[in-house]
Amino acid sequence: PEEIRVYEFAEKINKPVSEVIKELFSLGVMFTKNDFLDKDSIEILAETFGINVTTVNDQEAFDYVKAYDDEGEASDQILVERAPVITIMGHVDHGKTSLLDYIRSAKVAAGEAGGITQHVGAYMVEKNGRNITFIDTPGHEAFTEMRSRGAKVTDIVIVVVAADDGVKPQTKEAIEHAKAANVPIIIAVNKMDKEAANPDLVKAQLAELGITPVDWGGEHEFVPVSAKTGMGIEDLLETILLQADLLELKADPSREVKATVIESSLEKGRGPVATVVVEDGTMRVGDIVVAGVAFGKVKALLDDLGRSVKEALPGEPVVVLGLSEVPGAGDTLISVKTDKIAREYAKKKAEYLRQKELSKTTKVSLDDLSAMI
Ligand code: GTP
Ligand code: MG
Repeated sequence: PEEIRVYEFAEKINKPVSEVIKELFSLGVMFTKNDFLDKDSIEILAETFGINVTTVNDQEAFDYVKAYDDEGEASDQILVERAPVITIMGHVDHGKTSLLDYIRSAKVAAGEAGGITQHVGAYMVEKNGRNITFIDTPGHEAFTEMRSRGAKVTDIVIVVVAADDGVKPQTKEAIEHAKAANVPIIIAVNKMDKEAANPDLVKAQLAELGITPVDWGGEHEFVPVSAKTGMGIEDLLETILLQADLLELKADPSREVKATVIESSLEKGRGPVATVVVEDGTMRVGDIVVAGVAFGKVKALLDDLGRSVKEALPGEPVVVLGLSEVPGAGDTLISVKTDKIAREYAKKKAEYLRQKELSKTTKVSLDDLSAMI
């Protein structure tokens, strides 16, 4: 929740912070300038100083995700198995996208209408009659936030390490994100076709970071692969499914949708486009949805081959058309009953973000303040 400190409040209402502290003291409460104000104190102060406050830190006021979760808790959930969501991470050029391309091309029937033309950040493939969703991430150091977000929306992280290059900074960073998100890690030791491949060195380097291979008595699966020859790819998929079984991933497809925005953009002729991964419920054409400050009625859903689909189930990725604007990557999308509710939620979210931005810009430095007390 968003909070405000005593000095920030004083700054906002244009009063010396000492006056605010004195007022609080007269009410029988002790505050220092750096303490956070509770909602009650803010309301009393507002009255004393004759100002209007809107408390945007009231969770209910903008947190539509919570409303969705509460509703789910109240109803009887019908939980069924869902597709696992796998995020592929690793250092730049270690072969993340190549691996995904290989996996997809092996699974997409040749000559299928459309082929692999769309760029979306999330893909789904089938293995042993089960669906697996993959999210690709860039390895470049500038994309720390995408990796952090990726780790959050995922069930399993695959860290790709090139066998001829070994552990590098973004390999370590990917592992840290996965650990922070408490997500299981599978290591794909890639480029095994190369002369200089040294998988034992990769194992030793990772063991040093606490990622010890199963065949060395540790807990982590290391799968040697080559995105060039296809070696080990089926093994990797099997390992993913085994790991997913341990997680017992379930969701309720009978309820309204909740999904996470993976990437979004404004496209010529199509308007705002968002790739989402469904977390719970079923996403359908015609759903009225809200995602951050965007809302709208779902005009069309596209799969990762650009084909129009009617719905997307839990764990599945889908491209959504029909939003009022471009939602932020990482935003949660939910469907609501009426257009009015959707607009209201989006408006509150926008208002909340505006206030948050405002409180950032009105912050004063502590040096300025010590002179005031
Ligand atoms: P970023 O997205 O930029 O972080 O890179 P990436 O990890 O997605 O790597 P990408 O798949 O783009 O591959 C980088 C280079 O390595 C390309 O030239 C690939 O052809 C090559 N490459 C990837 N996998 C293999 C492999 O298994 N064997 C060989 N020989 N080359 C590979
Ligand atoms: Mg890539």
